[in-house]
Amino acid sequence: MDEKRRITTHTLQEMKKAGEKISMLTAYDFSMARIIDDAGIDVVLVGDSASNVMAGHETTLSITLDQMIYHATSVVKAVKRSLVVVDLPFGSYQGNSKEALNSSIRIMKESGAHAVKLEGGREVKESVERILSAGVPVMGHLGLTPQSIYKFGTYVVRAREEEEAKRLEEDAHILEECGCFSIVLEKIPATLAGKVASSLRIPVIGIGAGSGVDGQVLVIHDMLGINQEFHPRFLRRYMSLYSDMKNAVQKYIQDIKSKDFPNQKEQY
Ligand code: KIV
Repeated sequence: MDEKRRITTHTLQEMKKAGEKISMLTAYDFSMARIIDDAGIDVVLVGDSASNVMAGHETTLSITLDQMIYHATSVVKAVKRSLVVVDLPFGSYQGNSKEALNSSIRIMKESGAHAVKLEGGREVKESVERILSAGVPVMGHLGLTPQSIYKFGTYVVRAREEEEAKRLEEDAHILEECGCFSIVLEKIPATLAGKVASSLRIPVIGIGAGSGVDGQVLVIHDMLGINQEFHPRFLRRYMSLYSDMKNAVQKYIQDIKSKDFPNQKEQY
């Protein structure tokens, strides 16, 4: 992949055809987005996980459309190459396709993002079609859909049972037929995810969905080890930033208290 070429929804389809895996990470602010775009990430997701990791809410339900637009605007300013996808937050699209369209238009117009993502299958079909009618690319999200946590009651693996697995497969096909350019599958059995990915033309990005899909996504705070308390089986941690940052801050405090900082060279 040419480092300079901008990633589009079309690029992702080409990557699937060529068997090249797609890399995706979340970002919610300018500095983090700059680093991951510069590192060569294919897709930056301004996820509604911002509700948890940026705002400290227990669920993703609390974040508002205005707050998502604020995060997305900062991310878009930093990104030169990646495709920027923004989550439609809870309450901004469910059950009302006109509102779904208005929310998507606000995200695209006010932040400059490239696509939106929403959760659900057949129940959001009308919303997906309406958003697409305005030329806004849509990414689907099936399996564990955190905006429905109070319906599920738990964050355990979804679609282990045949009935739910069958419904998920059908929903994935409905989303593809509606025109979604990609689908995220969250926390479902790897065999099912692989089966869905190989039966669809559009790329399937997994999180806790095994290796048989077309790409992987993680929440950046989880993969950098900024969150200490979250350690599901699917998470690979690449750093232990919580302890590294804590150690650095403790050293800084110590240097101030001991009058070591600032030294002669660090003053005017
Ligand atoms: O909000 C988010 O971070 C997400 C990913 C977990 C896919 O939707």
